[in-house]
Amino acid sequence: MANSTTIVIFGASGDLTQRKLVPALFNLYRKRRLPADFRIVGVAMTEWQDADFRAAVRVGVDRFSGYEFTGEEWAAFAARLYYRPGNFTMVRDFEQLAKTLAELESGPADRLYYLATPPRFYADIVARLGQTGLTVERDGWRRVIIEKPFGSDLTSARALNQSLHHVLDEKQIYRIDHYLGKETVQNLLVFRFANAIFEPVWNRNYVDHVQITVAEEVGVEHRAGYYDGAGVLRDMFQNHLLQLLSLVAMEPPGSFKADALRNEKVKVMSAVRPIPAGRVGDHTVRGQYRGYCGEPGVAPDSQTETYAALRLFIDNWRWQGVPFYLRSGKRLAEKTTEIVIQFKCPPTVMFPLSPGYDLTPNILALCLQPDEGIHLRFEAKVPDTAADMRSVDMEFHYRTSFGPAAIPEAYERLLLDALQGDAALFTRSDRIELAWELIDPILAAWRQPGGPPPAIYDPGAWGPTEADELLARDGRAWLHSCGRHAG
Ligand code: BG6
Repeated sequence: MANSTTIVIFGASGDLTQRKLVPALFNLYRKRRLPADFRIVGVAMTEWQDADFRAAVRVGVDRFSGYEFTGEEWAAFAARLYYRPGNFTMVRDFEQLAKTLAELESGPADRLYYLATPPRFYADIVARLGQTGLTVERDGWRRVIIEKPFGSDLTSARALNQSLHHVLDEKQIYRIDHYLGKETVQNLLVFRFANAIFEPVWNRNYVDHVQITVAEEVGVEHRAGYYDGAGVLRDMFQNHLLQLLSLVAMEPPGSFKADALRNEKVKVMSAVRPIPAGRVGDHTVRGQYRGYCGEPGVAPDSQTETYAALRLFIDNWRWQGVPFYLRSGKRLAEKTTEIVIQFKCPPTVMFPLSPGYDLTPNILALCLQPDEGIHLRFEAKVPDTAADMRSVDMEFHYRTSFGPAAIPEAYERLLLDALQGDAALFTRSDRIELAWELIDPILAAWRQPGGPPPAIYDPGAWGPTEADELLARDGRAWLHSCGRHAG
């Protein structure tokens, strides 16, 4: 990356810029992965000077970069940070921005625009960038990263896609899902497709079912304004959980090129069986943690779900009949993201089982966070017994194999990919729309006037008991912490 490069962050006085974007850019700078000649220009409505911006993001870098660094390193980086106050809807402010950029760049330059604003500004910002010539690729590339949520349903996502495509070519658009930047999520592809022994059993002949859990300990925190209107299905399922599902279930792509990968993901999404209207209650559970309605900013009679569990099927040759159980929620027992593949039991067991002992099926647990690793559970003979068995875990941990500092923040990888023009880990417009097609009918059924309210669960539990019943009806139970049975 030899060109002069400018990264423009819209929403530069916000949380995301401070906690994630600038710490990630600083780390990339320290690792010498940014172009030699780069600058970062923050834009937001707050009336700041360059010095205020530098001071604000320094706080974030101190807290979140995860590294010790020297004053000189910071000073060299901070000298490349600029700030311009601006209104996201006023053409005049974009004309001014165009002048500022031309002055700072003093010659041809590539530009990455990062939309870290509230989503209601996305279409306006892109329209203004277009109106003021800021998206024209005459003397360098122009790319736009768009944060989630991308729309709040199929109609709004389509409308947003249309207004983006009015100004930008699809190849200039980078819709971010930070889960795809996580090392362990990328490792899913390596695990599946760079090893020969797993793929032959990765199908309906061997897999009994798949569970995907994204559990959080935190509640809604200071984000009630957004969250109470969104709920967990929009906040976590439409993007992160369905991305994980695609990576687990997709066919091997022909190459690691963006479109090859994204085509396979789209094929999986189009094979997910829609939940039939009128049967939503049989396949889903919605919950709300006790006390949610008392959180600051939440409507006292809010019916917004903070927990959801879904049972999905994928209608293709590989997965026909294999349930995929997905769950996510706030204020759960612990923060954990994991994918558990439970294999079928052996067809017959020749060993006499000790009284009370049931053969445990083999379980492959991909632990994405916080204890990143992989566990394979299998039966072993207990020493000094005739044929007693017990399940044991074979474990791989990133920390022990690669060292404690091995896992960078997801945003580092994603920002670097966008700078390098690699869209493989970003979401294409068709996939976003397919995900909404799946989510919309569930939300519609849940929100029907007079419908049942969300099931209440206690903070610190694993969600409502209805979620256990969803699996119990199929003779199964949720698994967690890489294979331990959870109540
Ligand atoms: C975000 C959601 O996309 O992901 C948050 O908006 C959620 O509600 C967060 O807390 C979880 O991300 P992570 O990386 O901590 O699992």
